[in-house]
Order: sequence, then C-alpha cells, then structure tokens
Amino acid sequence: MYAVEKAEAKWPLCKDAGSGRWRSALLPGAFQVTARAAEALGCIQPPKSANEADFSYGVPREQVAVFRALDGQVYVVDAYCPHLGANLAAGGRVVGNCIECPFHGWQFRGEDGKCTTIPYAEKVPDFAKIKTWPSCEINGMILVWYHCDGVDPVWAVPEQEEITSKEWVYRGHTEHFVNAHIQEIPENAADFAHLTFLHEPVFMSGVDLRYTHSKLWESVKHCWKGEWQPEPEPNKHCSRLVVKHSLTVFGKHFSLMDFAVRARQVGPGLVYLTFEHAFLGRGIILQSVTPVEPLLQHVIHRIYYQRNMPAVIPKFILKVECVQFERDIMIWNNKQYLSKPLLVKEDSAIQRHRRWFAQFYSENSTRFTFQKGGLDW
Ligand code: FES
Ligand SMILES: [Fe+2]
Repeated sequence: MYAVEKAEAKWPLCKDAGSGRWRSALLPGAFQVTARAAEALGCIQPPKSANEADFSYGVPREQVAVFRALDGQVYVVDAYCPHLGANLAAGGRVVGNCIECPFHGWQFRGEDGKCTTIPYAEKVPDFAKIKTWPSCEINGMILVWYHCDGVDPVWAVPEQEEITSKEWVYRGHTEHFVNAHIQEIPENAADFAHLTFLHEPVFMSGVDLRYTHSKLWESVKHCWKGEWQPEPEPNKHCSRLVVKHSLTVFGKHFSLMDFAVRARQVGPGLVYLTFEHAFLGRGIILQSVTPVEPLLQHVIHRIYYQRNMPAVIPKFILKVECVQFERDIMIWNNKQYLSKPLLVKEDSAIQRHRRWFAQFYSENSTRFTFQKGGLDW
C-alpha cells in the first residue's frame, strides 16, 4: 500500500535507475509504480468536512477523489467522472453517502461506485458506475490499496493501539519530496555501514554533508548498531529493523541517551518507528513513502507520543529524526540506483533486502523504457 498524493504535472528527472524499471519518462502528471501485492497505501490526513471531496490524489498512474460520507465512512473513487470527465474532487459535493459531480450533478455511491442519480435523466442506466478503490482509515491516516494487476488487498494495515486509544497523541509531522528510486528509502534500513558513517556526526552539525564532519562537533557522536530481518509468513510483506543508539562525548559513553528504535516496514510504503526511552517516554513515528512519479517519492513522518509527556519531547525527537533523514536525502537526491552494486560481505543485508523487496514487483509492473527509444532527454 502506498500513500497517495496530489499529482504534480512535471517531467521526471532523467536518471538511470539501474534495474530498468524506471527508465522512461511519463506523460506529465502520470504515475507509475511497480509494487505488486501490497501496494498503495495512501497516507493522507482524513477529510475534515463531510460536505466536500477534500482531496484529489494520484495513486500511481491514477487520480482519485477521497471523501467522507455522511455515515462517517471514508471512500476513495476515481477522480474523473465517467460521464464527461470532470474531476469530482474539484468542486464535487458529498450528498448522503454519495459524491456529486460538479459538472452535471450525477451522484455516485462511495460504497460501490454505482450512479444513483442523474438529475435530468428519466432512468439511471445500470452501467453508470465509477471505479472505487479499496481503502482504510487507521492510525490517523487514510490509505488506498493499489495493485498493478487489480488484485484486492492481501493484508491489512496494522493498528497502533495507543493511537486508537489516544494514549499517544499527534505531535507534528514533516514532509519531503525526494528524487530517488522507489527502493532507495526502504533500503536504507538494511544499510548499516551508512548508519555509522552518515549518521554518526551529532545532529547539531546539520544536514549539509560538506560540513557534518566539521571539527566543531567532532567530540559528540551518535553510535548506531542495527539488525534487519524480513518477517516470516504470514507477514512476509513486513520486515524489522532494530537500532540501538548511544551517544559519546569526548569518547565517553553518555548512557542517558541510550535508546532502541524498532522499525517495522509494512509493505513497500509504510514504516512504524517506535521509540522507548527510560525518561523520555514512548511514541511512534509513522513514515509513509508514496511514489508520485518515477524517481520522485513523497515522504511524510508523523509523530504520535505519550499524551502525558510535554510536547517539546516529541517535537525534539522529530527534529532530530528530520536532520538525520535530510542527510540521507542529500545522498538520494544525487545518487544513482545501482542494480548491481559493488558490495562487501558486511553489506549482505542490502542484498537480502533487495530479495525481500522484489515481492512487490510483478510481471505487469510498469517499466521505465522510453529513453532507450527516443531522442528526448
Ligand atoms: S461530467 Fe460528471 S456529471 Fe457530467
Ligand atoms: Fe539513513
């Protein structure tokens, strides 16, 4: 499942994705994704009002409208009306459990997409329907299932009990667009060597990799030790990373900053990062990675934290996480995806991660091929 986001009509970067999966440009505003079983989880803030279709989002290669019906249920339907192609999310209204097209007033039921009303027609034909998308609302997100072969969801998004019970509350989010191959961001979890190099300089030394190793902060260092494992059946769409963090100041271990981060990747586009610290309490960062077009990922981190802890703590944690993530972004924005990287024995988890991620591609996954055949660049 992937997060879905508003379509940006721009040309993708011409960048070699190595595997050939992303080696073409698309029409402006179109999307591609290759994930197979578990795709399309869109993580978007729930629509607030029941009166409008708040969102027009692009699932890869698709545009969808997301609305909350009067029964409180959220529905996701194709954005374009099958009558004459108006965008339901641009001026459409929610009427009961239907969405009404802004152009001629046809109404479509969220549940099954059936057209229930054509204001000027004697009869509504049976074939008047709009496509509906499997979706769910959980952990403060609305998620849309996308499968390039049209297969129904084969797994459910795990509920984070503490969010549902409001023991943990929302304390902010960050949002980034990253120019990177679809696998790069998840693959980071299995790349331990980068943890001890890229993420070692203390967060105060910033995000610009030209300066993070500066003398000023070299006495304070983060130390990370990680372990990545795929999960067995029936959760083979999940994998787990455990990272132990410690801080050293002038080479001395500063035990107050010892904590473990557990990251659970659920499908190709969602990560649950849970923290537990003796004094700073417990909470979670939910990371969603949504491909919006080839080599462009939309990433959101949302933090939920113990309600009884001062908000400054989760805000600080999110800030530190953001600094570390932006260091990765400087790498991703400028790197190539190599399908045959030059790895050493200690990098073996990267290969295992690639084998795990391969489950999300299918024969029909769209491929990026145009550059080979044309002179456009
Ligand atoms: S285009 Fe939607 S009702 Fe005509
Ligand atoms: Fe990283």
